[in-house]
Amino acid sequence: KPIYVLNGPNLNLLGVREPEIYGYTRLEDIKATCEALAQVKNVAVVFRQTNHEGELIDWVQEAREAASVLIINPAGYGHTSVALLDALKALKQPIIECHLSNPHAREPFRHHSYVSLAAKAVIAGMGAIGYELAIDAALRLIEQ
Ligand code: DQA
Repeated sequence: KPIYVLNGPNLNLLGVREPEIYGYTRLEDIKATCEALAQVKNVAVVFRQTNHEGELIDWVQEAREAASVLIINPAGYGHTSVALLDALKALKQPIIECHLSNPHAREPFRHHSYVSLAAKAVIAGMGAIGYELAIDAALRLIEQ
């Protein structure tokens, strides 16, 4: 089964939006890197981004049947969405939460993540490299 990599709101603007915080790498480049890394192990990647909370939840529900591991950067919804947490809690697969920045080093409202309550692991603060680390971790979980 593929690794799902789901991205929340405003991550379509990666590389353009606050690059001093989120870096200059665009989401399409992160997607290509994730696919290439997983391809080495013959694992497919389903990589998506949405600005809509309900669509993100639909994809999490889809992942219940379709994914081996779920990597999610919930962006702002990580700090706000009980509904997203509820959807994630319905998954049996491992969930890896991934953030480009380190939310704990930023404003207090970013210190809490609903998603972390459902996540096996959290990767934060390594910029685009964090997605590579998350794919590597997912591949190891699949191999186990
Ligand atoms: C983010 C961190 C969030 O606090 C923020 O709302 C984002 C991006 C990150 O990847 O660093 O949109 O998830």
